[in-house]
Amino acid sequence: MHIKDTERRWWKEGIVYQIYPRSFKDANGDGIGDLQGIISKLDYIASLGVDIIWLNPVYDSPNDDNGYDIRDYRKIMDDFGTMEDFDRLLAGMKSRNLRLIMDLVVNHCSDEHQWFQESKKSRSNPYRDYFHWWPAEKGLPPKRWSYFDVAENAWAYDKTTDAYYLHYFAVKQPDLKWENPNLRREIYDMMHFWFQKGVDGFRMDVIPFISKDTSYPEIDAQEPHEYIAYYANGPQVHTYLHELNREVVSQYDAFTVGEGPGISIDQALDFVDQKRQEIDMFFHFDLMSLDRKPGEVFTMREDAWTLPEFKKIFSDWDTAFAKAGWGSLFLANHDFPRAVSRWGNDSPEHWRNSATLLHTFLLTMRGTPYFYQGDEIGMTNAYFDHIDDYRDINTINRYQLLQNSNGDLERFIENEKYAARENARTPMQWDSSPHAGFTSGTPWIKVIQNYKEGINVAAQEKDKHSVLEYFKEVVALRKSNLTLVYGAYECLNPDDEQVYAYLRTSTTERILILLNFSDTVAHYVLPAHVSYNRIKKLISNDKILDDTTYKEFRLYPWQAIVYELEK
Ligand code: NOJ
Repeated sequence: MHIKDTERRWWKEGIVYQIYPRSFKDANGDGIGDLQGIISKLDYIASLGVDIIWLNPVYDSPNDDNGYDIRDYRKIMDDFGTMEDFDRLLAGMKSRNLRLIMDLVVNHCSDEHQWFQESKKSRSNPYRDYFHWWPAEKGLPPKRWSYFDVAENAWAYDKTTDAYYLHYFAVKQPDLKWENPNLRREIYDMMHFWFQKGVDGFRMDVIPFISKDTSYPEIDAQEPHEYIAYYANGPQVHTYLHELNREVVSQYDAFTVGEGPGISIDQALDFVDQKRQEIDMFFHFDLMSLDRKPGEVFTMREDAWTLPEFKKIFSDWDTAFAKAGWGSLFLANHDFPRAVSRWGNDSPEHWRNSATLLHTFLLTMRGTPYFYQGDEIGMTNAYFDHIDDYRDINTINRYQLLQNSNGDLERFIENEKYAARENARTPMQWDSSPHAGFTSGTPWIKVIQNYKEGINVAAQEKDKHSVLEYFKEVVALRKSNLTLVYGAYECLNPDDEQVYAYLRTSTTERILILLNFSDTVAHYVLPAHVSYNRIKKLISNDKILDDTTYKEFRLYPWQAIVYELEK
């Protein structure tokens, strides 16, 4: 495929592998993953064929929200190691041609950060204005909902200065006041610090939340989810992102990907159109909301999601980015259940095909694909059915809230089995030794027992038909084919409930992808406008059942096939 050099970017052609350090590999036996553990697995990561690593927060933190509450942005968390370990890790990545993006958590920090410790000392402290304070003499602040608060109240009272501070997340995660140019300067300096060490970019936590209407008008919302629209995209969001780009990111060969709760498809290009010089990509939340109650991030919807709904999300977003900007593709991360359990079928019968179908899907779509650790071996949900197994502030505080109001706790746990973030946070399954080879100590969270049944790296490395080996093959296919990166996308059957069929087309090539998203054999007929003289199979996760006419295809349950069509 011929692509203008001006349009090509390493971060468009790259494949991202996300590491949740707490659960990746423990080197010192304390039961918690660490940087030395990651260093010991760099050859493994390189063997996957991925190019970029996204590290969830590794900064010093009291761990109220597993590192998303940062106490010191320039120090490594003790649980994870030291700055020397970090430097060694980065050098190890560079020597293997792996790039690194860090997590940038700057909507809030920890209440133990020196800025907040100072800020709460007095109303005249130089750091007072680094946070959002509401003086008590003005009366109660207007209601704001909080994600992780047991009382769902985002304003916490602090008696030293007789004022309330704002925390959209936990009470120990006060929101930073971006309106203050001194704060912004400190954040930009901190980003330069990491760039000068050699990192290649940032994933930006809840980035649309950084700008707020600081007059705090009363909000006409009753339900938690209605608040979110008010939280995202405040009046200055584009000014700040443009400034951040100009002051920092544009000075390096780097990219940024924002976490984008509340960014709608109509607003997408305001963030990522290159002309605007703000951010390069973001994660929208449409897919992550598909199996949830409308507007509710944490509660499962009652009926099942459908394939036409799934396709529409991908098609609509592809259309948006076809005009400008660039999209990101992901099926899972540390905040959501496992891809194969959620979008595939993790029963023994369909687990292998559905895991590999999802790999085929993500690696044949337009946009930068992001894989979460363990997905390459088809790790499944934990399905914890007891509150004592959960470590996440999100599940624990919502449980508490319900207990306080005599709510239905059994129903809650049933929901969490499918919805909880913990599903994705169990230790990486390395081999069949105790605790799946994750630690020689006691793991901080339970290991899923199916590591004994082949869902582990060592077993799959030995089996050429494994989910892992297929993952590497389809990664290699994408890396050798620019049409799969840049080519136009066309969905051929938006209403089909069973098969997802699409074309990726460039000036030189046309690729047909057929995916059977179901537990039964499917029959698919190519539309008349797709004509060709020769067809060549590029990859499939199962043997070919029937494509003899090359107009009609039969696909095994969860089968994926990629064909090249020749004129
Ligand atoms: C999004 C992160 O991905 C999540 O893990 C965290 O709890 C919240 N932002 C708050 O930082």
